[in-house]
Amino acid sequence: MQEQWLHQIQSTSSLSELDNLRVHLLGKNGLVTQQLKTLGSLSVDERKSKGAEINALKDRVAAAIEEKKTSLETHALDQRLSNEKIDITLPSRPEPTGKIHPISKVIQDITQYFSQIGFQVFDGPHIETQELNFDALNIPAHHPARQSHDTFYVSGSDDILRTQTSPVQIRTLRDHKPPIRFLAPGRVFRSDDLDATHTPMFHQIEGVVIEEGINFSHLKGTLIDFCRWFFENPNMNLRFRPSFFPFTEPSAEVDISWKNDKWLEVLGCGMIHPTVLKNCGIDPDQFQGFAFGMGVDRFTMLKYGIDDIRSFYNGDTRWLDLYGFGAL
Ligand code: DAH
Repeated sequence: MQEQWLHQIQSTSSLSELDNLRVHLLGKNGLVTQQLKTLGSLSVDERKSKGAEINALKDRVAAAIEEKKTSLETHALDQRLSNEKIDITLPSRPEPTGKIHPISKVIQDITQYFSQIGFQVFDGPHIETQELNFDALNIPAHHPARQSHDTFYVSGSDDILRTQTSPVQIRTLRDHKPPIRFLAPGRVFRSDDLDATHTPMFHQIEGVVIEEGINFSHLKGTLIDFCRWFFENPNMNLRFRPSFFPFTEPSAEVDISWKNDKWLEVLGCGMIHPTVLKNCGIDPDQFQGFAFGMGVDRFTMLKYGIDDIRSFYNGDTRWLDLYGFGAL
């Protein structure tokens, strides 16, 4: 009987089949249990030897079932593992990744550069008051920039779309006391016709430093270092050409020496006009400062060899690949 049962246990092929067999053998009315029940009708001596024999048989059967159970379970697990195996060597399906826009990249790069020399970043609204865009910056009512063919006026209001990031100078300096260094990057709007070098919306970065004893040498050193870093040319020559802005005195345009030693105008700058400082509640006898303003679109076009400003805004993303602007 033992041989036969062990063989039956061995040849089961599923856990449910094995469980049925267990009940058949060891259950309340199972074959092994029935054997145990016969003991009652035996003599004491017989019962001793027979009892030990049957109990040993029962243990062997139980152990065999346990062993088979473990082996069936392991087998089932192996089966599942191999069925559910994922091939992690398969290449994933290509998914388009976002790319950073060249203008955003240049703004990020420039703010990062200046943050290393202590500049904070401030922001201002696109819809601005005439007071902050013009008057507080010492730009008089008769200045040509204030004509409607140069500036977008908001209908039904005295406000305009800011024509420059310079009003952020006023906003920031009225709220934060010097010493201070900051940049104000952002969009500006002028009622320009669209061509290869003009769009009605473009980007500027304003820079301001106000501390005691700041002078024109600090301005020159800062901008020379910056342009040489930005254009990756440590020997680049710069020219500070006398110019005029109502909010700086003296004022200069900065030209860089470009290919074939051509001079190219890249930004405006100057020592902040005492009237502008006073308009912000700063005593010009105590604090001096310089400011500069650059066109981000122009800087980007020069650095990356882009010849039409409209490509920044026409939404054709293939163009980003063309100029090698990688994934974020
Ligand atoms: N706001 C000037 C413009 O839009 C640029 C500029 C020139 C900004 C000189 C400055 C500056 O801060 O000092 O043309």
